[in-house]
Amino acid sequence: MEILIQPDARTAARLTAHIVARALGARPTLVLGLATGRTMIPVYAEWVRLHREKGLDFSQCTTFNLDEFIGLHPDHPGSFHAYMREHLFSKVNLDPRRIHLPDGMAPDLEAECAAYERAIREAGGIDIQLLGIGRDGHIGFNEPLSALLSRTRQKALTLQTLQDNVDPFGRLDAMPRRAITMGVGTILEARRCLVLVTGEDKAEILARAVEGPITAMVTASALQWHPRCTVVVDQEAATRLQGRSYYEWLYRHEPEWLPYHAEFPPADPVPSDAPNL
Ligand code: F6R
Repeated sequence: MEILIQPDARTAARLTAHIVARALGARPTLVLGLATGRTMIPVYAEWVRLHREKGLDFSQCTTFNLDEFIGLHPDHPGSFHAYMREHLFSKVNLDPRRIHLPDGMAPDLEAECAAYERAIREAGGIDIQLLGIGRDGHIGFNEPLSALLSRTRQKALTLQTLQDNVDPFGRLDAMPRRAITMGVGTILEARRCLVLVTGEDKAEILARAVEGPITAMVTASALQWHPRCTVVVDQEAATRLQGRSYYEWLYRHEPEWLPYHAEFPPADPVPSDAPNL
């Protein structure tokens, strides 16, 4: 795992967008795992800008979203189908036949989950999985105590998650209580995981996820097992990280990140009295 600390949420989102854009430029048939949530909105805005201004081409790309509420019509404004249409699908040249989200209205939800897993496999697996972290430490909708080897399945949501997603529904009792989500095991099979975490309210859970023990209570902590996981954060989310100065050092010196420095400069050299690992 590596952690890239950026000065603010917008820059962290733009760097995340550019990491994927560069991979897509190198391999236009990329299979992308997508996430929803407030954190991702500026990532999609940057892809839309790169598409319009720089010709970033999504036409051969395949996408799989992490999750969808159960029992919600894709046209409902609170659905992740609607979110994705609003922020990305209606604004770039993705081929609708290559876009996948779980169908929360499927008559047989178990069969839908199995079919989703199959579709991912048939697409050759996910090349880059984009992830946010919930305030209860979830990735996808893998709530606390989710099995760390779980596959796509139905999952009841925590009250915290319902509260965090209530906006488009207006009130809690109008919200679905359950969702279909890729499992932690499904996510860990992506060839690369790219996590974006911003804002002060994520500082505590981020530190538990990346520096704490691996535990089903914080499913994001399972990403510590992943051989290629990059976590992009802003300064506010980074405040509780013990290894901050080390992470900044790595971003400055690892060759992989050098091509990004012109647009996303590393922080000033770490002062000699800065806390280290
Ligand atoms: C969304 C998803 C969730 C969110 C997480 C953070 O598809 O899978 O794990 O990434 O809940 O949401 P925000 O960004 O709204 O804080």
